[in-house]
Amino acid sequence: MTDSLTVRDNRTGQEYDVPILDGTIKAADIGKIKAGDDIPGLAVYDPGFVNTASCRSAVTYIDGEQGILEYRGYPIEQLAEKSNFLEVAYLLIHGSLPTKAEYESWVHEITYHTFVHENVKSFMEGFRYDAHPMGMLMASVGALSTFYPDARNISDADNRHMQIVRMIAKMPTLGAWSFRHAQGKPFVYPDNELGYTANFLSMLFKMSEHKFEADERLVKALDILFILHADHEQNCSTNAVRSVGSSQVDPYSAVAAGVAALYGPLHGGANEAVLRMLRRIGSKENIPAFIQGVKDGNERLMGFGHRVYKNYDPRAKIIKKACDDVFEVTGVNPLLEIAQELEKIALEDEYFVSRKLYPNVDFYSGLIYEAFQFPPEMFTVLFAIGRTPGWLAQWLELVQDKEQKIARPKQIYTGDRRLDFVPASERWA
Ligand code: CMC
Repeated sequence: MTDSLTVRDNRTGQEYDVPILDGTIKAADIGKIKAGDDIPGLAVYDPGFVNTASCRSAVTYIDGEQGILEYRGYPIEQLAEKSNFLEVAYLLIHGSLPTKAEYESWVHEITYHTFVHENVKSFMEGFRYDAHPMGMLMASVGALSTFYPDARNISDADNRHMQIVRMIAKMPTLGAWSFRHAQGKPFVYPDNELGYTANFLSMLFKMSEHKFEADERLVKALDILFILHADHEQNCSTNAVRSVGSSQVDPYSAVAAGVAALYGPLHGGANEAVLRMLRRIGSKENIPAFIQGVKDGNERLMGFGHRVYKNYDPRAKIIKKACDDVFEVTGVNPLLEIAQELEKIALEDEYFVSRKLYPNVDFYSGLIYEAFQFPPEMFTVLFAIGRTPGWLAQWLELVQDKEQKIARPKQIYTGDRRLDFVPASERWA
């Protein structure tokens, strides 16, 4: 078997041998196919990058057909059960699991960078009372680049490490403060005696008590949710981080682009949409009519379907299990019954089966977040905190990858050409 593709250009009759490497052909090789010297080489049209690899990556492996997700080779199920978010963050960033000393130093570094400059606080206080926390997070992550101008020195490994630590450490602080702002409550400073996730819950929910200590089961469940969201290879927001990062901007600006991409309802905003949908359906009896509306193309079944998974999203399975632990503490969310029935009906319906539409990570996560008393606007903030190590691991890989260039896709131009400009004074005369 020869690992190449023979292409015959029927415009010219010429044949080309295009090497196949790692199941891909190089777009540059396709560009060599030309119908004439003055005609641009052939290009690939792929809106939404449905079948285009933009990089080589050793961070996350997904097999969408089988429903497999691994970070640096470790199955997500094992990490969710036996690891914790900061260890997973270390794994993603460094590529291997930490020794005891490395882990302790990593946790220490992250813990002691959770505070933000006081001016960040005043900056965040300036938002309107009803500002969406994701908008606040996006702006404040971007603003960090002005507090750490040295971050633009991306070619220095120690400097990169410093910004990575700062960002993973400060995301919960910024996320919690975005939440407190909307509630008109004072910002709570980090408590360095608490672990990463317990400290986040303290910054969210602490009132007048001396110390806020959340139920361990809730801390564990949220930590698992962070792990499940920590990376997902070349998704929309990671692509945004890489694309913006390819201009060699500082990592805060690149990650702010990731937060912006995550804000959209087709990406991180889907769990908020799931809850709205469940509430609108209201009761189990209304499910058949709702499903019919989806099949008629009136709307989508939110929390179902995925660009990559054509099987049950492995993260959704773990979240479904975590629901039980959370509801044991908080009481069952009444929408759970509707969600379970909806899933059952959809998984047996030919429309969903033939299109390989299964529950994705967002189908059950909103129910858990609601049980924590998070308003829907906060769901994507939680996703962003979890995804930060993944964005940074991918950014780190990008800036060290000699094959990478500034992201600059081609287009197929469909507009007018060579029009004669008539000045406004003549056009409007
Ligand atoms: N409900 C009903 N039909 C659907 C759905 C859905 N949720 N998702 C896809 N389809 C249909 C779609 O209409 C199309 O049918 P047809 O071939 O007859 O035109 C077919 O399935 C393929 O859909 P597509 O839009 O080409 O698929 P995509 O890969 O471009 O979209 C998706 C992926 C996630 C945007 C989409 O499935 C969707 O909109 N799902 C609902 C939103 C959602 O839950 N998003 C969270 C994604 S997971 C979190 C993350 O990683 O960001």
